[in-house]
Amino acid sequence: MAQETTIDQLKNYVSAEVTLSGWIHHSRPGGKICFIVLRDGTGFCQLVIEKNEQTAAFYDDIKRLSQESAMEATGTVHADARSIGGYEVRVTHARPLQPARDYPITPKQHGIDFLMKHRHLWFRSQRPWHVLRIRATIVDQIRRFFNDNGYLLIDTPIFAPAAGEGAQTLFKVDYFGEPVYLAQTGQLYLEAACMAHRKVYCFGPTFRAEKSKTRRHLTEFWMVEPELAFAALDDVIAVAEDFICSIVDRVLRDHREELTALGRNLTELEAIKKPFYRLSYEQCIEILHGPKAKALLEADLQIKQARIEELTKKIDELDSLIKGDASQWKKDQAAGEVIEVREERAELQEQIGNIPHHMELAKNFEWGGDLGGSDETIISRLHDRPVFCTHYPKGVKAFYMRESREDARVVENFDLLAPQGFGEIIGGSAREEDYDRLLARINHEHLPQADYEWYLDLRRFGSVPHGGFGLGVERTVAWICGLKHIRETIPFPRMMGKFYP
Ligand code: 4AD
Repeated sequence: MAQETTIDQLKNYVSAEVTLSGWIHHSRPGGKICFIVLRDGTGFCQLVIEKNEQTAAFYDDIKRLSQESAMEATGTVHADARSIGGYEVRVTHARPLQPARDYPITPKQHGIDFLMKHRHLWFRSQRPWHVLRIRATIVDQIRRFFNDNGYLLIDTPIFAPAAGEGAQTLFKVDYFGEPVYLAQTGQLYLEAACMAHRKVYCFGPTFRAEKSKTRRHLTEFWMVEPELAFAALDDVIAVAEDFICSIVDRVLRDHREELTALGRNLTELEAIKKPFYRLSYEQCIEILHGPKAKALLEADLQIKQARIEELTKKIDELDSLIKGDASQWKKDQAAGEVIEVREERAELQEQIGNIPHHMELAKNFEWGGDLGGSDETIISRLHDRPVFCTHYPKGVKAFYMRESREDARVVENFDLLAPQGFGEIIGGSAREEDYDRLLARINHEHLPQADYEWYLDLRRFGSVPHGGFGLGVERTVAWICGLKHIRETIPFPRMMGKFYP
């Protein structure tokens, strides 16, 4: 009797007979032999079906099945290093479960807009499959890290009466006739919880009405936020450092194959070890004004220009192939490829257009401004390990951040920048524990005091130094997987103007 199993278990069934059920990822049918790459949700595996007396009854039915048809196959497992996944199954029996017709995502390249509109199907392709598995591991490691280190999970509300971060990114919702907002952070509630449980964390979806269409912004993203009572800025930074190392170690332990398939440079990830770099805001400005930042952007300009020329040549070649008398199959292939190449070129052209602006921004950066995306990218590209940037001017940071007792112009905060240009993945701070200073900040920011009375209570009754941070899951997944854009790191991304499917 053949054993019903899944592709990830084939290693336990070498030379034995198994039954697999799954979907056709790719099929190469022939008159005498048919090769099928089957995927079953747990992996990919090659099926080999030879036409002979035993298979004649079903051979033609299976041969006709196209991409994404569901089928079942029984056969003997053979280890084969050249095969996808390392095993192949020589089929003795098979049956179609549901034939699919005209599956829209074919092995040829498609543009990102097309893929995003077909996200519900694109899921099945190898690249999203790898990314979402790595995401699941990162989420698991996040929970493990906090659960194993004495933090209590606190589920904070999603309907919030007031802003937790900037008022300009609030999503307003009608709550039985009254306005409430979708949570931008669970932090304020966590501060209440840490005075009850000392070490706490929340983990859930977070909403920001970001009107920017950047590669780093979603309107719905997942954030994990720990909060610790009796903690100073350095204590919070130390937690963030251990936390990031634990995530990277875990992904490297469990997902080397997936990372390699995604083209991620493993050596870069292996270099993520303590201690991370620490730069004050002032030091960040020095870097932005310095020769290394300028040289980096100038080199960028040249590299990108050269690449654009290369791509333009490629587009011309593909266009003439499409117009010429190549086979229809080759023309289709080229038509798909040209979309991708054009997209890459358009992206580079936009980036090149921005470089002079980024140079100006860096050169003219003045004390008091917030570090923008391009500034962060410069700093992050000049480092091979994550960088803590600390002590930003009060004016550009949230009202709850603790004023530095050494320099009242700045707050005790940090942003953690992932290296190699990925930019900010964590924002955190010590919180203002002093009632008068906090109230002054609330008033200075023209926040409605009544909405924050409960929060002020935390400073009225046994207020102690405390702090925490928030890590954005999608930005972390993008960095670890080496993805340019955050939209591929969440099952169904929500961005400005994009909420289908
Ligand atoms: O720096 P942020 O705004 O910090 C807070 O929300 C604090 N309340 C956290 C805390 O101290 N408890 O956001 C934290 C992180 C960012 O570093 C980024 O990784 C992610 O959340 N993030 C976003 N990710 C995707 N899309 C967006 N629009 C994001 N905004 C923030």
